[in-house]
Amino acid sequence: MSKQAQQVLSWIDDRFPLTSSYKAHMSEYYAPKNFNFWYYFGSLALLVLVLQIVTGIFLTMNYKPDGNLIPGTNVSVAFASVEYIMRDVAGGWIIRYMHSTGASMFFVVVYLHMFRGLVYGSYQKPRELVWIFGMLIFLCLMAEAFLGYLLPWGQMSFWGAQVIVNLFAAVPVIGPDLAVFIRGDFNVSDATLNRFFALHVIAVPLVLLALVVAHLVALHEVGSNNPDGVDIKKLKDPKTGIPLDGIAFHPYYTIKDIFGVAIFLALFSGVVFFAPEVGGYFLEFNNYIPADPLKTPPHIAPVWYFTPFYAILRAVPSFWGTQVWGVLAMGAAVVIIAFLPWLDRSPVKSVRYRGPKFKIMLTLFIICFIGLGILGALPPTDVRTVLSQIFSVVYFGFFISLPFYSANDIGKPVPERVTESSTARQMQFLMMVGAALVGSFIFAKVV
Ligand code: HEM
Repeated sequence: MSKQAQQVLSWIDDRFPLTSSYKAHMSEYYAPKNFNFWYYFGSLALLVLVLQIVTGIFLTMNYKPDGNLIPGTNVSVAFASVEYIMRDVAGGWIIRYMHSTGASMFFVVVYLHMFRGLVYGSYQKPRELVWIFGMLIFLCLMAEAFLGYLLPWGQMSFWGAQVIVNLFAAVPVIGPDLAVFIRGDFNVSDATLNRFFALHVIAVPLVLLALVVAHLVALHEVGSNNPDGVDIKKLKDPKTGIPLDGIAFHPYYTIKDIFGVAIFLALFSGVVFFAPEVGGYFLEFNNYIPADPLKTPPHIAPVWYFTPFYAILRAVPSFWGTQVWGVLAMGAAVVIIAFLPWLDRSPVKSVRYRGPKFKIMLTLFIICFIGLGILGALPPTDVRTVLSQIFSVVYFGFFISLPFYSANDIGKPVPERVTESSTARQMQFLMMVGAALVGSFIFAKVV
């Protein structure tokens, strides 16, 4: 560094903790050296968050949150403004497709990120707060996606919002007033669109950003877990005090994460340029029809990332003439994940060293979560409802059974130091992914 640059830096350092923060979080943050594929998704979630905010800002420049009809047509100003972005605004189509693809990819990345936490026990002591902040992020993300989905004011936007807001009306005593409060009207209307727009573009993103900062501050306070679940802080170099199994985040993991970003962007571009609708899963076909409050679409299903929870909602019958039980079950399905650090009493973190009971329950849980996702996207039939009920019981069973067996369910002994990933383990992983894909495909066809 030149002398002048050094002077500028020390001038800043006297007034702001720039170098010390850089060291604490980058060049002298020692992360376990055995991070694998699953550790890409944290940095990828950060990337998608930035992408969503930047593309969102550009969309807002031309989008109009106005549900009123253009005179002489059945098309609202909001719907027309999205079409205007797609057809007339320079580069508008790519910005919109990046934003709509980003919404789904956010959930792909975050679900994989959460799954990593589940298999390696990253929520266990001392990372409980990292997990809780993560869960709050997940809730905000769901709210953000739901609010944004109303904005194009297409048929699915309108009827999706109608169905979900009506769920709040099932809450005893205050329900109907609560639904009116959320909508700002007795029906989903222009007033609803305006408030959803305000919440989607500023309120929720602000909370989301603050939570992500808290998530990372909490993580760096305690240090990262790893695929072996071994605490690297226990064995330190006596001279330097650096963990023997730790490597500096920068440059080692910044370089590794850039590789992950390159692969991710290749996949992301593939979707944006060649299949932005992804067969109606990322952008639903019914949402290309302008909202019509007088015509209910024959099949209203939420976007894929909500379908596991939607299937749980539909699986619960209406007892005593109220839908509130389904709503409660759906809410509980999300909230129960936040309690993992206290439900799991295992002395071992990583699935690699856990006993057979956890492995069996985890496999069943994955099958049921994917199964519920598929069932929630399909119109209900008697068989599908029964299957959803069975899968919902297993879903909750996974969490509720944990405190009873986890303390004594130990497999192989945990090593002293972190281990290398073996080819056998990688092959096992690829076979599991293959089986999950083939199994899901067959299940979706049969059911
Ligand atoms: C906007 C969404 C999110 C962002 C940007 C984000 C970002 C990150 C980053 C950068 C890391 C460190 C790198 C890594 O371990 O992969 C991390 C770690 C972690 N995150 Fe997230 N995260 C998000 C959502 C979540 C959610 C929803 C959960 C779970 C409920 C979660 C749970 C965790 C846990 C437990 C760790 C520590 C993992 C370990 O040390 O093994 N995160 N997150």
